[in-house]
Amino acid sequence: MSVSSGTAALHVAFTALLDPGDEVLVPTFTFVATASMVQVAGAKPVFCDVDPHTFTIDVAAARSRITAKTKAIAPVHLFGNPCNVDALKDVAQEFGLKVVWDAAQAHGTRYQGKDIGSFPDAVCYSFYPSKNMTTGEGGMITMNDRALYEKCRLMRSHGQSDKYYHTLLGFNYRLTDVMAALGLEQLRKLAGRIARRRENANQLRTHLEGIPGIQTPREQKGGESSFNLYSILIDSDVVGCTRDEFMRLLVSENIGCAVNYPRCLHQQPVFADIARGLHFPAAEDVAGRILSIPVEPSLSRSDIDLVAAGVRKVANAVKPGRAAEV
Ligand SMILES: Cc1ncc(COP(=O)(O)O)c(C=O)c1O
Repeated sequence: MSVSSGTAALHVAFTALLDPGDEVLVPTFTFVATASMVQVAGAKPVFCDVDPHTFTIDVAAARSRITAKTKAIAPVHLFGNPCNVDALKDVAQEFGLKVVWDAAQAHGTRYQGKDIGSFPDAVCYSFYPSKNMTTGEGGMITMNDRALYEKCRLMRSHGQSDKYYHTLLGFNYRLTDVMAALGLEQLRKLAGRIARRRENANQLRTHLEGIPGIQTPREQKGGESSFNLYSILIDSDVVGCTRDEFMRLLVSENIGCAVNYPRCLHQQPVFADIARGLHFPAAEDVAGRILSIPVEPSLSRSDIDLVAAGVRKVANAVKPGRAAEV
């Protein structure tokens, strides 16, 4: 079901599935909307640490945070890398939890040979311009349950079941026809673009693996990442500078890069009341060391060679006491 943004997709899915006071397990290392929409829907995000290699929710950590109030899990296929889907499904089944997958960055991501959009209970996509496909702004919820679909469809448009007859509280979260037309064209190109992203990621891995102080991203076992982002971890002790300094040096080599994300959600002021005193060592470490480098499908093999050469140059040049030589 189409909606006007990924945030709207999450808001509708959480509102349809949750009751006030419910708790939802959310990774602390993700975009803010995964958790904020839980809270806007009247429930409580319960933050969990992430796996230090895949950056997706740590299933054992999530399991340890389950209480009598836990109603759902909201795992995020972060950067296009699928979560540990089988293990999460097992936990959900054992504790009777709903699963709302945040697939905002994961169009075309696969797990055990299947597209992640087919997994219950609801899968939420974004069509923001930085995503694998875009409609400018826009989103989508995929689900297998007819009753859930009908509820979400009503919520998308003012809970209106008949002309000016409203049976539910709802929103205006409709995707326009013009955006939908853009989306159909984007969908046609999606598989080719993901294949290019995967080729670029492969090429980056070949070039970057083995550079001291650089950790390349690890794909989930059994999964196929769509590489919406290609994020490396910088070991400051080895390269001799901080992640932020490393990024500045890469930019001076004309290589655009970004930090997704510099701060975990439990460290965000907006969640101060529910996250006071919480610490998640793996997520905090990742947030301090992560750096996204270009992997876009429009980049050619020689562009990727340049990106990799830039990373190698900066990593090799900056050693303790040698920053000035770069
Ligand atoms: C993981 C994640 N969840 C949710 C969203 C929200 O999507 P949108 O920007 O379309 O509202 C985004 C978008 O940046 C995202 O990356």
